[in-house]
Amino acid sequence: MKTSSGFYRSRIAGSGSYLPEKVLTNKDLEKLVDTNDEWIRERTGIAQRHIAAEGEYTSDLGLKASQIALEQAGMQASEIEAILFATVSPDQVMPNTACEMQRKIGAPKCMALDISAACSGFVYGMSIADQFIKTGQYNNVLVVGAEVLHPYVDYTARDTCILFGDAAGAVVLKRAEDEEDSEIYSSHLAADGEISDLFVLPAGGSKLPFSQKVLDERAQFVMMKGREIFKHAVRTMSQACDLALKTNDMQPEDVSWIIPHQANVRIIEAVAKHFGVSMDKVVVEIEDMGNTSAATVPVALDKAIKDGRIQRGQNIILTAFGAGITSGSLIMRY
Ligand code: UT7
Repeated sequence: MKTSSGFYRSRIAGSGSYLPEKVLTNKDLEKLVDTNDEWIRERTGIAQRHIAAEGEYTSDLGLKASQIALEQAGMQASEIEAILFATVSPDQVMPNTACEMQRKIGAPKCMALDISAACSGFVYGMSIADQFIKTGQYNNVLVVGAEVLHPYVDYTARDTCILFGDAAGAVVLKRAEDEEDSEIYSSHLAADGEISDLFVLPAGGSKLPFSQKVLDERAQFVMMKGREIFKHAVRTMSQACDLALKTNDMQPEDVSWIIPHQANVRIIEAVAKHFGVSMDKVVVEIEDMGNTSAATVPVALDKAIKDGRIQRGQNIILTAFGAGITSGSLIMRY
């Protein structure tokens, strides 16, 4: 059904998530760097992260989450017309991870594209998918956020190694039928390349190809200015939520759930405070998985759907920020 503005509506038909079996606890990290469980919990809210097994790649994590999402949607992979795969930890530089997963899942007729927007990647992907569905170009899009970050983490650097983990989440976004009361109201994407130096993975691109120098300088690992990112995270996610409400003439009380990027529980609390809502309206899944970049939002979304917190008919906001600095929000009736 088209809306009064002449566009089709998109709805989440199914969701899925996958966390690798192996777990790295705060106690495990105490043996690697000068840190402790209490500091990590208090300063980040994280207790453990999941680590992909040897030979388990980003496309494999995405595949597992996507298969669950398709099952919930009651669809076959062959019905998918587009795969949008948000990741900063692709299986390899080329071909893209979306194509790797396309082969594994068996979706021969679709287009397949990676989205590189770091932790905002899934929100970017949902917005792009929604545009395709709204205009009628596609009926079914698989949007995936998946990361195997552990190879990019320096387990001698205590400011970063405590944060990151591996995970995948996926949704099937589908054109809504007449009787279905779900809709993506709007999405708002932003970027600020002026502060791109706050969070970087310097090596592996054309600017700094792999060499002995890269290894000597440990430039193959993520590096960040944590305190600076913290401030920008709170500001950009708060602004993105404000814009979502203003665009739709809504108030915070019209929203049942906020699903923010899970980077640090203190960032999440600050966004909730800005929004004027209590933490019981915020989906927080960081304790069990840490920061899994593009996967945090779809994993949190899926967990809250599966355990019944999120119900059909409720309004929810997704919001994220990440390296770039990218940010965004998406508001929908689930
Ligand atoms: O997806 C986006 C990616 N990144 C982020 O979102 C990160 C955002 N930033 C953060 O989450 C926080 O800034 C961190 C968790 C990274 C750090 O927390 P903080 O409260 O900002 O700590 P800080 O950097 O201000 O450091 C405070 C102290 C320092 O010691 P001194 O200088 O006061 O003696 C650090 O050396 O804590 C020390 N410290 C640690 N201590 C124990 C830093 N990391 C650790 C650690 N264990 N793992």
